[in-house]
Amino acid sequence: MRIGLFVVDAIFRVSSCRVVGSAIYRKYGFAQAVPGFLRRAWALTVYPLGRTFIRVHCWWDDTRLFSSTGPRVPPALLRFRVAESLSVSSFLDVGQRSVAHLARALEGTGQDLGDSRRILDFGCGCARTLRWLPGLTPLAALYGTDVDAQAIAWDRQHFPEIIFSVNRPEPPLSFPAGNFDLVYSISVFTHLDQPLQERWIAELERVTASGALLLVTVHGEATWHGLPMEDVEQLRQQGFLFKRSSKWRGILPDWYHTAYHSRAHAVEAFGRHFEVVSYVPEGFGYQDLLVLRKR
Ligand SMILES: C[S@@+](CC[C@H](N)C(=O)[O-])C[C@H]1O[C@@H](n2cnc3c(N)ncnc32)[C@H](O)[C@@H]1O
Repeated sequence: MRIGLFVVDAIFRVSSCRVVGSAIYRKYGFAQAVPGFLRRAWALTVYPLGRTFIRVHCWWDDTRLFSSTGPRVPPALLRFRVAESLSVSSFLDVGQRSVAHLARALEGTGQDLGDSRRILDFGCGCARTLRWLPGLTPLAALYGTDVDAQAIAWDRQHFPEIIFSVNRPEPPLSFPAGNFDLVYSISVFTHLDQPLQERWIAELERVTASGALLLVTVHGEATWHGLPMEDVEQLRQQGFLFKRSSKWRGILPDWYHTAYHSRAHAVEAFGRHFEVVSYVPEGFGYQDLLVLRKR
């Protein structure tokens, strides 16, 4: 099973050109050289096989007699939706590292996790990050919201000390204006199209208290290396790219694809609503981090 997963993952990575070295890729225009009908045939055959394999793998992970998952580890499909990986150890590890990134991002801002009173995780999924906060934020009421109703149902059952809500794909959230003194959103603006980006930035501004912080990650320049030349060109000229893929149809929502930002575009878009305290390239693993303060 593990070897199968590895093979499927490798095929998907190659097909999305993440593994094809950028130098070769840019020099020879690999994707452009592959005729469109071959790319379509690939999507019609390999993608459905991969999705079936993932579903079977999820079922196996969740039902086998001596499951490696503990009582507070979400079902495999929920893990896969946030991580594109089924590894339990990586799920736990990435969540812990995310909290460390958040804590580091707050250094020098005059605020830390421990003195925050109301914290919102926007796009919390199955609580990969939020699960680690209760011990570190004794003063805070913790909130998580997501469009994924299944993830939120699981969160509510397993973390009764945290307040969870399901939101619609578009704003608004159900919270009053200025409700939070810390809001963070990890790997969410990496999946929204441009109109949704603009509406959600404005909505996060609304629910953040004056002077409070918003931490957001984006796919910055470090993630462009596997993109075709014309996409990189678009990013250089327009600063934003939204790429659709049918790879995970049925596993991820239909509107859920991948967004890339240039630094200038991200600073400009978020800077219209917040003071940009800092922009940290690869400040959140391979993603860039914006530290923002509501004016
Ligand atoms: C890559 S996952 C990251 C999840 C979580 N932040 C983490 O780091 O584990 C992206 C999450 O964003 C959520 N999401 C996407 N669009 C959203 C929206 N409009 N409102 C709330 N959540 C959204 C998805 O359902 C998913 O849980």
